[in-house]
Amino acid sequence: MENPFKYGGLVRGPYFADRSEELAELVQEMNNLSRVFLVSPRRFGKTCLLFNLMDKLHDLGLATAYLDLNAYPDVRGFASALTRLTSKALESNTDKLIKIFSGFQRLRPKVSVGYDGSLTATVEVATEDKEALPALLEGMRHAERLAKKKDKKLVIVMDEFSDISKYDGQTLEKAIRTEIQQHENIGYILSGSEQSVMLSMIWDRKRAFYKLGRIMDLGPIDKGSYTDFIYSWLYKGGYKLERSDLQKIFDLGRDVPHSIQRLCYNMWELARESREITPFLIEKLPMAIAQQDSPHFELLWQTASQQQKTLLIALSKEPDAKPFSREFQLTYSIGPSSSIKASLDSLTRKGILSRTLKGSYIFSDTFMPYWISYLKLKE
Ligand SMILES: Nc1ncnc2c1ncn2[C@@H]1O[C@H](COP(=O)(O)OP(=O)(O)OP(=O)(O)O)[C@@H](O)[C@H]1O
Ligand SMILES: [Mg+2]
Repeated sequence: MENPFKYGGLVRGPYFADRSEELAELVQEMNNLSRVFLVSPRRFGKTCLLFNLMDKLHDLGLATAYLDLNAYPDVRGFASALTRLTSKALESNTDKLIKIFSGFQRLRPKVSVGYDGSLTATVEVATEDKEALPALLEGMRHAERLAKKKDKKLVIVMDEFSDISKYDGQTLEKAIRTEIQQHENIGYILSGSEQSVMLSMIWDRKRAFYKLGRIMDLGPIDKGSYTDFIYSWLYKGGYKLERSDLQKIFDLGRDVPHSIQRLCYNMWELARESREITPFLIEKLPMAIAQQDSPHFELLWQTASQQQKTLLIALSKEPDAKPFSREFQLTYSIGPSSSIKASLDSLTRKGILSRTLKGSYIFSDTFMPYWISYLKLKE
């Protein structure tokens, strides 16, 4: 039997765990054509949730367009993609699409013929760069008109939304906000992982997206349902275990869905022969994963200065430590606070640590502290 615990990519259908409440809430919001900011730390499952939501919305007869802003380095690309995807979501007939694409002022159609003679239509920004923003607004306005004409609800999902600030700032952001506010046939989900960046975009009065919609703060997956999900797959696979032992998986994975999936994947593989899962086997999982990722951690480690390494070792031993306390600095012979702050900021920029909303610093990768402790064992 194939390992049912997928990680790293999109997880859908029977491999997608729970999120029933979040899905129901988002379906409701999109039925009302609301605007929702979906925010969580990294790897909590926003993108997976969005794709499973879109599957549901399709079943309910809504049209959807998904854009990952990471994929569009400039406004031209973003404008073309938004126009193409929203038009395709609402119109499946290629001839009609070509007609739609030919009607734009600032975008032009591009039609290609497949080996079987079938036509594919797309659209690109026709004019120079400074026309990219007007082209984007034209595309958005068109989506609204088309949804109205087709009498269909359209949902536009913009993932990695905090990336929007890379497109030369305020003018574009304000124009998009104004456009979104005028739409009565489109629901929007604006999703982002850099929690503090996303929140400052939404809560800062001076910023364009101030209170444009409600915030949905995506937390961990409901533990009871997630336990049922894991247990029932293991049961189906003929594995023997105590259900209560699974609690340990949540602790080791620090409730991050990506880490929990990874632990479960490895648990399935390690017990493939014996079909028996013991607390001892579960305890071994984080170190096994840390070793699989060793080359990656090695590279990160090499980018750290000596003081930063000392700090990382200390944090790997005491995840809840207060690095600015005198006690911490005395125990690990590091300091003063100003240089610790500089190290923490630098490690955050390198992506090794993440700053939580409460202001503490945690490892971005749940398994890196295990790798560091293994490193110390080897010395
Ligand atoms: N409901 C779920 N069921 C099973 N696995 C899940 C679920 N949600 C998330 N995961 C796991 O977590 C991984 C990361 O999820 P996803 O990419 O959706 O997170 P994200 O919040 O979009 O992350 P990022 O902020 O990095 O974009 C997935 O590859 C999958 O393994
Ligand atoms: Mg994502």
